[in-house]
Amino acid sequence: MAVITEINDLKRIYERRVPRMFYDYTESGSWTEQTFRENTSDFDQLRLRQRVAVDMTGRSTAGKMIGQDVTMPVALAPVGLTGMQHADGEIKAAKAAEEFGVPFTLSTMSICSIEAVAEKTTKPFWFQLYTMKDEDFVRRLIERAKAAKCSALVITLDLQILGQRHKDLKNGLSAPPKLTAKTIANLATKWTWGLQMLGTKNRGFGNIVGHVDGISDAADLGAWTAEQFDPALDWGKIAKIKEMWGGKVILKGILDAEDAKMALKVGADAIIVSNHGGRQLDGAMSSIKMLPSILDAVGDQIEVHLDSGIRSGQDVLKALAMGASGTYIGRAFVYGLGAMGQAGVTRALEVIHKELDVSMALCGKRVISELDQDVLLVPKDFSGDWR
Ligand code: GLV
Repeated sequence: MAVITEINDLKRIYERRVPRMFYDYTESGSWTEQTFRENTSDFDQLRLRQRVAVDMTGRSTAGKMIGQDVTMPVALAPVGLTGMQHADGEIKAAKAAEEFGVPFTLSTMSICSIEAVAEKTTKPFWFQLYTMKDEDFVRRLIERAKAAKCSALVITLDLQILGQRHKDLKNGLSAPPKLTAKTIANLATKWTWGLQMLGTKNRGFGNIVGHVDGISDAADLGAWTAEQFDPALDWGKIAKIKEMWGGKVILKGILDAEDAKMALKVGADAIIVSNHGGRQLDGAMSSIKMLPSILDAVGDQIEVHLDSGIRSGQDVLKALAMGASGTYIGRAFVYGLGAMGQAGVTRALEVIHKELDVSMALCGKRVISELDQDVLLVPKDFSGDWR
C-alpha cells in the first residue's frame, strides 16, 4: 500500500486507475488553460509569515460556513461526472465529507441522483443548480433537492454556455463512455474501474435521465449544456429561483466586484469567488487575485468563499488569511476518489487538514478566527486591479 503524504500522491494513483477521458476532464482548463494554470501559480506567489514562540496548544481548524459547523472551512465543490471517476462516486464523496464534517455539494450534472445520494447519507448535503431553459425541470429539481433536505442551494452563474476544453472534444467525452476503438483500448487497461462500474446502476446523468423528455443525447455533457442550459439567465431569474428555494443560497462564479454587489442585492447568503477552476473564461484572472477587490466591495455584508486553485492546506490558509470565510476543493478530492474511492476522499481531506493545522501553528495561529492578513506576505504587484 502506497504511503500517501500529499495530494499529488493521490493524483498519480488516480491517473493510473481512471479512464483517460475522465482524467482529462478533471485536468482540463478551457482553451489555452492560462486561467487554469494561474489559479495555482498565483497561490504560489503568496508567502506565509513564520512566527515563533507562540503557544501552539489547543489548536482547532473548526469554523462555520453559512452558519453550519465545519471541521475546517473546506467544502467539496460540485463536480460534474464524479460518478465516472469511481463507481457511485458522489455517494462515496458525500459519505467521506459527512464523516469528516465538511459540506458536500452535489452537481446537477452528477451521475448519482439527488435521491440516490440522500438515501445513502445521513446528513444534509448542498445541491448545485444549473438553470435550464425548461423552467418546469428547474422547478422539479428544486423540489427534489428540498425533498432530499439539502441545506443549501449553490447556483452556478458562470456556465450558461460551456467553455471549450479541447481534450473533452478529442476524447468524445460522455457518460457512460461510448465504446469507440480508442476508448475500448484505454478501458482494457482499467480493470478495477470497469468491474466496479459494472456493479452499479449509476452510470448516466442521474438527475436528468428519466426526468426530462426529448433530449437528443443525455450522455454528452457538451451537447446537453448547449441544448438545455438557459443562456438568458439574469439577476431577475436568480431572484425568482432564490424565492422558489426559500432556504440558504450560495452564488457561485462571481469574479468581479460589480457582480458581487448584485449578488448582495438579490440577498444571497454567500458568494463563491470562482472562475470554475479555469474551465470557462480562459484569460480571466485567478480567483485568489480577484478576492481582495471583492472583499473590499461586499466582504463586510456577505460571506465570501473561494474556489479555483486550492490543492493544499497551505492554499486554504492563504485564502482564509486574505479574508475568505470558506473554501472549496474540486480536483483535490476527485484525485482521492479516483485513486481509492471513499477512503481516498477521506485521505485527501486528512492531508489538507494536517497541512492547514500545522501551517497555521507555524504562523503562530491556533484558531481560524485569528487568521488575517498578518499571516500573509503578498508581493507588491499581486493584484487583480488591472486596467
Ligand atoms: C461542469 O461543471 C464542468 O466544468 O465541466
